[in-house]
Amino acid sequence: MAKTVEDFQIVEDTDLEGIGKVHIDEVIEYVHTFKKLPAPLDLYARYLKQRWNVYDLDFTQDAVDWHEKMTEDERQAFIDISSGFHHGERQVEVDLVPFMMAGTEDEKIFVSSQIEDEARHTVFFDRFYKEVVGVPGETIMDVLDHSYQWLTETFVGPFGLLAYLADDLRQNPDDPHRRVKYSTLYHLWIEGVLALVVMKVTLGFGRDRGFLPAYYTGFTATCRDEARHVQFGMKFLYDSLKRDPSHQKDVLQVLQTIFNMGGAVSKVANTEPLGFDILQLRELMVGQLYRKLGIIGVELPKEMSQQLQSLEPVIAGG
Ligand SMILES: [Fe+2]
Ligand SMILES: [Fe+2]
Repeated sequence: MAKTVEDFQIVEDTDLEGIGKVHIDEVIEYVHTFKKLPAPLDLYARYLKQRWNVYDLDFTQDAVDWHEKMTEDERQAFIDISSGFHHGERQVEVDLVPFMMAGTEDEKIFVSSQIEDEARHTVFFDRFYKEVVGVPGETIMDVLDHSYQWLTETFVGPFGLLAYLADDLRQNPDDPHRRVKYSTLYHLWIEGVLALVVMKVTLGFGRDRGFLPAYYTGFTATCRDEARHVQFGMKFLYDSLKRDPSHQKDVLQVLQTIFNMGGAVSKVANTEPLGFDILQLRELMVGQLYRKLGIIGVELPKEMSQQLQSLEPVIAGG
């Protein structure tokens, strides 16, 4: 039986320590559970309740697990994945600004909270890289510069396209078609598909092995933040499509670009040391995509759904 909002009361209400005890699969389900898509100000109220302090995390045990318990292969796979997130968080914190510039006043207020979330997520990764991995650096940029060496090519596709669409929107922030394209890429694909898959892989690993407790807590809290972002995006896309069905073309165009870019890399990140092979990753991505398309009421044309069967997994998020 499908779960209801009431089944997720703990995820909804618990504090930072409490969210560290919740199974990541529960939080991913929570992203998709609502009576009706919430309005921006409902999500803003949830933000004020669920906001967490990134400086409350204690990474001492994580550093021990990282250096003494994890194998070299596990560390490499983990860092390949989390570096895409580290850089992704920094980029979206900035690239959300053009999206905030237009829209209703209610939407602007919510997006201001999302920008703060993304800034906090950037600091979360900054602390992880400095205190657990042991990367040197005084400033946020120093640490990003250092972790750049671990970014994989798969990052370039979705985040390169996001930089392009954000700049396109900046030049004409009120254009509804540009807003829908931006939201399709960012809220639906990067947050609603890529980020949730990465969360499942790294947090599933941490939970199964009992490793990295502060990372688990902070990144699970990040996933709960993602629930607000994704629900906001789904509401925006749903309403836009209802107002003007021609936006269907905008959504499909962005997805088509993403699908075409999928195979344009020479090396896919190896997640097998963390317990997930390519087939499982692809299945997770496709499943997440169909759930979001179902919510906004968009159907993929046949050729595009066929293309999904050979989709290359992308390991990044924001
Ligand atoms: Fe987000
Ligand atoms: Fe984020």
